[in-house]
Amino acid sequence: MCGIVAYLGKNNAIPLLIKGLKRLEYRGYDSTGIAFIDKYKKLAVIKKKGKIKNLENAIPEGLFSNIGIAHTRWATHGEPSDINAHPHTDCKGEIAVVHNGIIENFRAIRDFLVNKGHKIKTDTDTEVIAHLIEENYRGDLLEATRMALNIVEGTYGIAVISSKEPDKIIIARNGSPLAIAQNNNNYFAASDASAIIGNSESLYYMKDKEICVMSKEGLNITTLDNTPVTPEFQKIEFDLSRIEKNGFPHFMLKEIYEQPEVVMNTIRGRIDMENGDVRLNGLKNYEEWFRRDVNRIIFTACGTSWHASLIAEYLIEKLAGIPVEVEYASEFRYRNPIIDKNTAVFVVTQSGETADTLAALREAKKKGANVFGICNVVGSTIARETDAGIYVHAGPEIGVASTKAFTAQIVGALLIAVYLGRMRNLSYEEGKNIIENLLKLPAKIEGLLKEHDKIKKIAEKFKDNKNFLYLGRGFNFPIALEGALKMKEISYIHAEGYPAAEMKHGPIALIDENMPVVFIATKDSIYKKVINNIEEVKARNGNVIAIGTKGDKKLAKLANYVVYIPKTIDVLIPILTVIPLQLMAYYAAVLNGCDVDQPRNLAKSVTVE
Ligand code: G6P
Repeated sequence: MCGIVAYLGKNNAIPLLIKGLKRLEYRGYDSTGIAFIDKYKKLAVIKKKGKIKNLENAIPEGLFSNIGIAHTRWATHGEPSDINAHPHTDCKGEIAVVHNGIIENFRAIRDFLVNKGHKIKTDTDTEVIAHLIEENYRGDLLEATRMALNIVEGTYGIAVISSKEPDKIIIARNGSPLAIAQNNNNYFAASDASAIIGNSESLYYMKDKEICVMSKEGLNITTLDNTPVTPEFQKIEFDLSRIEKNGFPHFMLKEIYEQPEVVMNTIRGRIDMENGDVRLNGLKNYEEWFRRDVNRIIFTACGTSWHASLIAEYLIEKLAGIPVEVEYASEFRYRNPIIDKNTAVFVVTQSGETADTLAALREAKKKGANVFGICNVVGSTIARETDAGIYVHAGPEIGVASTKAFTAQIVGALLIAVYLGRMRNLSYEEGKNIIENLLKLPAKIEGLLKEHDKIKKIAEKFKDNKNFLYLGRGFNFPIALEGALKMKEISYIHAEGYPAAEMKHGPIALIDENMPVVFIATKDSIYKKVINNIEEVKARNGNVIAIGTKGDKKLAKLANYVVYIPKTIDVLIPILTVIPLQLMAYYAAVLNGCDVDQPRNLAKSVTVE
């Protein structure tokens, strides 16, 4: 999604801004731009549709400026184009604004501005901010920005520069993340810590309705209604090598291969083998409440995190016997969800910034729920706004299609299920058995990743197909959904996930020799039922690609292609079955020449509704 970088200091802003933009590429974007104050103290703006390379090519060599703002845009209002790219300027080209978020009342503001004689040049909601600042400018950029922001409704993270006051940057936040860093007399701001790290050791995450002036004199932060704010800087714990590809052709592949380590990182420090239990310090303050009072749990999330939530539902109901409901965050926020004092709400999110998930969290809190996070990005908005929760420690995930964060979320959900289960009916023996098997999982994933050539050959065979069907039951139903999502996200091949038995209520009509059907048919309690579903597909000439359990010869006879996962206990199966499906989608996308890490139209972190 859109990204912001801003710099003011002793060094040349231009290469620093470009470097920052490149670090934000993973969020997904369709155009980029920068604004800076040139040597004549004039505002200069360069912006281009497409990749950052296009912007770099448009920047004359040898440019120097001490101050600038930059942006990667992901279109919401107005098509991707040079003109609609940020930064946006006022009528006189003296004020430039970059913006993340959505201004909901921009049409009314635009009409007002047009009546006042402003010339609006683009179809974006952002441009009205530049004109509103111009309209309110009476010799003080901070005040003019403050007044403009008091008029706009919606979400924003913004950075503003102006040739009228060429030695300051104004930044402000409401609902769209912005972090600030300082290092001697160098000041940075960005919508994502990854754009800043390496330049400073600590960060301040702005809060909603805060506005900051960066200048050579330092940082001056206040709330929009002018109350001074003392920023609390946090040390950045971020290993730069983790946002580089380390020899892999794509971040997605690197992240798929990181999964054995990620599983260990999610578990680390949380195992209590002696008691067949887990320790979750993040939930400690609510332990008694979970033990005595909780009788219903709601999970809410988006995308891949929603699929992880479906697995959490199976896990918690099976191991802890507590009823669980799973809801898309975008639906939850607009319903009237029934929540009482014994309902726990869990929000699951990789980024911790997804707008719908954040809104669902706030809605649940408004209704009096205790809200817990299963989150990857430390210090993210959702991590800060939840009452408590656990981090999954997957590390930075750069590929837009989520892989390692998904496995980490399932492991996190399993830990919570064991934790809640051991407070109820889950025996010591069962708890211990799950933990012992969980600890064996990283080695099993390593083994499974060695099957990559076989999986690549299957992808080669089917890469030109227009459709795929993914079928599974029980724990493997959400995996069918996730496998299909991976395929469509990065290879643009249409793929549908279904509970295997539901096939006969519709999708079976699609089956012929041109329809590859991916069955997740592991040796678990419903194995025989899934085999029956495979027979139904074979009887109609469907092509079956099966994910099965090592040693299952029957499956090899039935299916056209089989990838085996190592044996494990039922509750761990989804962590293994998803891996061949991630690899299959990856290879299909590579073989079709798709942009694996930045698929078209998608954003890593969807910070708008
Ligand atoms: C976007 C990403 C998905 C992700 C979803 C939810 O659509 O492309 O990969 O699953 O947002 O994101 P979250 O950060 O809340 O897990």
